[in-house]
Amino acid sequence: MTGTLTLDSFAKINRSLLVRGKRPDGFHELDTLFSTIDLSDRLTFKKAGTTTLTCSDAALPVGPENLVVKAVRKLQELWGFAGGLEIHLEKRIPWGAGLGGGSSNAAVTLLASARIFSPSVSRESLHPVALELGSDVPFFLLGGSARGQGRGERLRPVASGPDEPVVLLIPPFRLSTPEVFRTLGAGPIQGTPGPTDLPDQNDLEVPAGKLKPEIHRYLRSLLDSKARQARMSGSGSCLFGIYGSPSEADEAARGLSELHPECRFAVTRTVGRTEYEARAVP
Ligand code: C5P
Repeated sequence: MTGTLTLDSFAKINRSLLVRGKRPDGFHELDTLFSTIDLSDRLTFKKAGTTTLTCSDAALPVGPENLVVKAVRKLQELWGFAGGLEIHLEKRIPWGAGLGGGSSNAAVTLLASARIFSPSVSRESLHPVALELGSDVPFFLLGGSARGQGRGERLRPVASGPDEPVVLLIPPFRLSTPEVFRTLGAGPIQGTPGPTDLPDQNDLEVPAGKLKPEIHRYLRSLLDSKARQARMSGSGSCLFGIYGSPSEADEAARGLSELHPECRFAVTRTVGRTEYEARAVP
């Protein structure tokens, strides 16, 4: 490859998230429905002597702890290629928000590194490395809508209909995923996952609300704004509403921003697998 490779790295929402219990390895057994949304970071990759990362957001750590850097290093250990990548991350997805920004960046970096250093490698073979990087990373190798079980890595694509309008409510605080799971205080796994549709719920809303009671107030406002569905995404802090039309979503965002001037709002839509493949997969 010559020159640079530029890819979009999309955010996700969890349309539903059930926690089935705590596993012996300390992770929680989940049953969730992921959908990618049209809010994305942009990653630029260029072959270089060593791997370096720069980011438009000075507050984001860009050292070896960053999942983007970890992704390249892991593949380098596995494949033993020489050299590295000069990577720039244009950050737009709020972090600590349950939108999967870091996981998405990691998955796109795996796809880009494979393309640059080992083009014959299949996307499926990146799955175990993706899971080592984080529970949500395998989903971003796929995109669109998918049901995720286990830690979220046992994925089944779900046919996504037409794109749906989404309003994101971004609170003025972040939530820590381990802290939200700890606050849930789940017992061991119970029952077996049903084959049927997931109920409309997110079991992490209760512990998130214990840490930040405003979560419940924001959820109520979204429901009152005529959202067809309103939930927290992942372990929060971001919440979303799904609307019947783009104009309903615009109107809801206007009303909500008057009600909650301390929050930020973004009007967006779900992104199906075809568009994901075109914009995020090299
Ligand atoms: O896998 P990931 O690094 O995203 O997980 C971050 C933390 O969130 C884990 O260390 C764990 O505390 C919690 N977690 C969990 N069960 C999951 C996913 C995450 O307990 N399925």
